Amino acid sequence: MNAVEAECLTVHLRGRKILDCVSFNAPSNSVFTIMGPSGSGKSTLLRAINRLIDLVPYARVEGKVRIFGEDVYSSDPYVIRRSIGMVFQEPNPFPHLSIYDNVAIGARLNGIARSREELDKIVEWALRKAMLWDEVKDRLHDPPSKLSGGQKQRLCLARALAVKPKLLLLDEPTANIDPSNTRRIEESLRSLKEEVSIILVTHSPSQAARVSDYIAFLYMGRVVEWGSASKMLESPENSLTERFLKGEM
Ligand SMILES: Nc1ncnc2c1ncn2[C@@H]1O[C@H](COP(=O)(O)OP(=O)(O)OP(=O)(O)O)[C@@H](O)[C@H]1O
Ligand SMILES: [Mg+2]
Repeated sequence: MNAVEAECLTVHLRGRKILDCVSFNAPSNSVFTIMGPSGSGKSTLLRAINRLIDLVPYARVEGKVRIFGEDVYSSDPYVIRRSIGMVFQEPNPFPHLSIYDNVAIGARLNGIARSREELDKIVEWALRKAMLWDEVKDRLHDPPSKLSGGQKQRLCLARALAVKPKLLLLDEPTANIDPSNTRRIEESLRSLKEEVSIILVTHSPSQAARVSDYIAFLYMGRVVEWGSASKMLESPENSLTERFLKGEM
């Protein structure tokens, strides 16, 4: 089954075409990477998938997006967003909540945990999955301000996982963090796909090569090509893709 299907998805912002008939299928339980240069429309594409685009003034969406077969634009946007986790480029933990509560809050609000013990288990599970548990287990009640940028980002990943989303969207999650934190997040993503389907946005060909099962190359709002990562990295069909992969763009 496909986690996400985009069918000639077209987005206009303030009358300008930002996404131009984007189509691809992202299979479930895999890392599907959307790779492309700055301004190519990657963030807009993620927002069109989870309907955050509804909040953008003057946005017009045409075409179809299906998540696990369900048509996103004929569903309740709140239900859609609740089933999708999202991690942004800038780590944004809730500053007034403890490390524990940052992870627990979604599970509490969604009624996923029925007891304190269950909540403790979910928090530990999510922090372990985000490769952060060992670093914070003795200070769960500290504020996130005491964490490094990379730790904060892993906390945001744990927060997204704690509500057990079926789909996880990540918008350049490692763009502002150091290489060792980047490696931990990449390792986490590789291990997560048994439980969740992942759409990763990156402008880094080397990151795409390290984590992806599938890659779509986005350029000026169009999918130039998409397919299995190994095929795309070894023998891209389009010269634009080749130039991007060689770092010539
Ligand atoms: N709210 C908006 N109103 C009008 N234009 C917008 C809006 N948001 C984005 N754009 C334009 O849409 C295009 C694509 O932007 P988008 O942020 O999706 O690109 P991106 O691939 O994520 O870039 P980056 O790698 O820099 O994050 C850009 O030209 C941008 O200026
Ligand atoms: Mg972006």
